Amino acid sequence: MSHEKKNIIHFEKVTKKFGGMAAVDNVSFDVEDGEFVFITGPSGAGKTTLLKLILGEISSSSGEVIVDGVNVENLKEKELPYFRQKIGIVFQDFKVLPQRSVSENIEVALAVTGVDEAQWQERIKHVLKLVGLSRQEDLFPSQLSGGELQRVSLARALSVNPKLLLADEPMGNLDWETSDSIMQLFEKINKEGKTIVMATHNLEIVKKYKKREIHIVGGKIN
Ligand SMILES: Nc1ncnc2c1ncn2[C@@H]1O[C@H](COP(=O)(O)OP(=O)(O)O)[C@@H](O)[C@H]1O
Ligand SMILES: [Mg+2]
Repeated sequence: MSHEKKNIIHFEKVTKKFGGMAAVDNVSFDVEDGEFVFITGPSGAGKTTLLKLILGEISSSSGEVIVDGVNVENLKEKELPYFRQKIGIVFQDFKVLPQRSVSENIEVALAVTGVDEAQWQERIKHVLKLVGLSRQEDLFPSQLSGGELQRVSLARALSVNPKLLLADEPMGNLDWETSDSIMQLFEKINKEGKTIVMATHNLEIVKKYKKREIHIVGGKIN
């Protein structure tokens, strides 16, 4: 048996054009299983586009995107739900459903990714404990702070037990202290074995947490 580190993400000369403009321009990089990497760069650099390529939400104009050994472009319709269970994602604006309680928000994610209903309650309890929100299970988003909303969105992403967690400016709407506590939560999640790819332009966070940085400007790594 091999004990070599495996690449969970492999980009080979990937370009994504919108019209004539390359939002991601001939980009190659790898992310190892278990790593925590930052994707940095100014607004408009191509960070979100890169995350969408990993998710298979958009397809590349040229090049190869391999996630956990699978060429994302070749996925068939019926393989998509299983593939999506491998990847969790959180966003700057949390994207929680305002009319649903904390636990119902997580149920929706479990339902759309096809997790067996018999497992839902146990999964919900587990992830809410992990993010420190066990007591808020029945509250609604309007009753929660920004930091708590990001914890809900993290719990929801983790509920399907993904190997890979993508985060797109997850601290963009939070003050420093809250950002720092959310970042510590990401650290804990990473130490428990999840690979994390986080797009951020929060330079204080990048400086303090010292992860490998994939820096892009104008769609190019530099
Ligand atoms: N769906 C789209 N259609 C056209 N242009 C897009 C689309 N999505 C992103 N872009 C453009 O691609 C570039 C990179 O955008 P994005 O990946 O969102 O950057 P970042 O997340 O680093 O701010 C920007 O110039 C943006 O306007
Ligand atoms: Mg973005």
